[in-house]
Amino acid sequence: MSFKRRTHTCGDLRESNIGDNVVINGWVDTRRDLGGVVFIDLRDRYGITQIVFEPTYNLESHEIGKDLRNEYVVSIEGKVRKRPEGTENSEIATGFVDVMVDKVTILNKAITPPFQIKDGIDVHEDIRLKYRYLDLRRKEMQDNLILRHKMYQIVRNYFDKQSFVEVETPVLMKSTPEGARDFLVPSRLHKGRFYALPQSPQQYKQLLMVSGLDRYFQIVKCFRDEDLRADRQPEFTQIDVEMSFVDTEDIYETMEGLMIKLFKEVKGFDLVTPIPRLTFKEAMERYGSDKPDLRFDLEMKTLNEAVKTCEFRVFKEAIEKEGIITGLLAPGCGEYTRNQLDVLTEYVKKLGAGGLIWMRVKEDGLDAPIAKFLTDEEKQNIINALNAKPGDLLFILSGSRLKTLSQMGSLRLEMARRLDLIKPDSEPALLWVTEFPLFEWDEDTKRFYAMHHPFTSPRIEDIDKMESNPAEVYARAYDLVLDGNEIAGGSIRIHDSELQALMFKALGISDEEAEAKFGFLMNAFKYGAPPHGGIAFGLDRLAMLFAGEKSIREVIAFPKTSSGHSLMDDSPSNVDEHQLKELHIKIR
Ligand code: AMO
Repeated sequence: MSFKRRTHTCGDLRESNIGDNVVINGWVDTRRDLGGVVFIDLRDRYGITQIVFEPTYNLESHEIGKDLRNEYVVSIEGKVRKRPEGTENSEIATGFVDVMVDKVTILNKAITPPFQIKDGIDVHEDIRLKYRYLDLRRKEMQDNLILRHKMYQIVRNYFDKQSFVEVETPVLMKSTPEGARDFLVPSRLHKGRFYALPQSPQQYKQLLMVSGLDRYFQIVKCFRDEDLRADRQPEFTQIDVEMSFVDTEDIYETMEGLMIKLFKEVKGFDLVTPIPRLTFKEAMERYGSDKPDLRFDLEMKTLNEAVKTCEFRVFKEAIEKEGIITGLLAPGCGEYTRNQLDVLTEYVKKLGAGGLIWMRVKEDGLDAPIAKFLTDEEKQNIINALNAKPGDLLFILSGSRLKTLSQMGSLRLEMARRLDLIKPDSEPALLWVTEFPLFEWDEDTKRFYAMHHPFTSPRIEDIDKMESNPAEVYARAYDLVLDGNEIAGGSIRIHDSELQALMFKALGISDEEAEAKFGFLMNAFKYGAPPHGGIAFGLDRLAMLFAGEKSIREVIAFPKTSSGHSLMDDSPSNVDEHQLKELHIKIR
């Protein structure tokens, strides 16, 4: 089938084109048959143009026009005319003109799509994912992909201008599980052996520093076999960065420069730097999260001091066990009903809290089930600490530090939702979270794990404590947080093989295991490794936030469901017996 090359896209035509003979191609968005005259809206990614089939203008085309259906792909040859008075549409850029058809060619027919190709459809996401190629025909999805594309360009341009080199690193690598679970790829050539897909190019980028590349970045796919959520996919994209001869301040400065550019060029927003910082400890105590949402206040207060002499068993126990008593003020919520309070109690119980202490603030003090256990002074201390006023409601949780703080952090977010504190037009809230503990204790396995990864440098002043008191060692690590989302994380690395050996020891990784898993990296460090550090951004998360979406799936062309399924091609899928045989694999 022959068709003429298009002269314009569906978004191009304006009044200045009136009288032109044009060729445009696209999909039939809608068709209206108004007693003899057929109108179609022709759509492509650039816009929509109204096409008119009038029998008096061209009978043959009109006959074909009558048969067109939604999503047919057509080529139109015609003449641009001014739309008759009163029929203009100022909502769209082409709305003052339409095209009278001289010739129409059906390039392809279409069966009825499972959902309408338009914005704001109310369709189960599974259907959208199954027919993703149709979902991506919708403007809002195309806009998301185009926004993402724009971000790639800004990022590449920014780093290029600053002498960074983009280097591709392998997708088949050695399995070094530490952190999430690896995806494994069986080797055909090496029976019983496996490659792993990289959870990130962490070790490669460090090796590139040993090689003297000095400044590396890569927009790179990473793979993690972990439980999925709205902001997690098994394969996702990082903007991965590593720099030599730097300290934390250099990293902050370079990354803030990137954020300024992205905010300006994507959102037209002038970001003010330096970006505020909070230590991990402050973030946890004040907001109950290592990725606090600072678009609203609602600050938690530690009440250990306020109730330090209190005889109330729950508080006493928390203080004796070096736990925490944390309070949150819900302004103006003093009239919450018992039912509302029960719902909130259930909410924190589901998170593992023993219960929720609440107090209504009255003119004459505190009205609460636990009031009888508190002296007047203790009540006043609590009121003062939380700066509470009559009509307010107070929540208190107590228990082991991090658990209790993060439960209250969740309640803080829940209250923000209930009080509608997050406004759609609120300014972006960016912050660095710094001074993370180097290690994280795991109750189940009774051992320490690296909070970031085992290549993260401890603070120099804490190195002595790595063996004697690991819980008190802080890392030269940082996360960047935007509106309550962790959008990036990184650290200054260990570049010394002895310190790296000490780190493995503290993690309970034997010399043999370290040698087997990370020997290549430790060995490389013996050949002159520069001090270095880096960071990686979750590009999908950043794109999600810039696009104002709630799930990263909305900014990924072909994502998996939350159970790791690709509904479109139905993967993961079974494979032939003979493929398994070649890979020396038997399914039990
Ligand atoms: P980290 O594990 O913190 O650091 O990852 C960096 C950023 O990647 C994003 N991210 C994810 N996005 C979508 N789906 C996932 N499953 C997922 N996991 C992580 C987050 C996160 O902040 N190699 C180190 C970086 C470094 O130290 O330089 C690393 O990967 O936004």
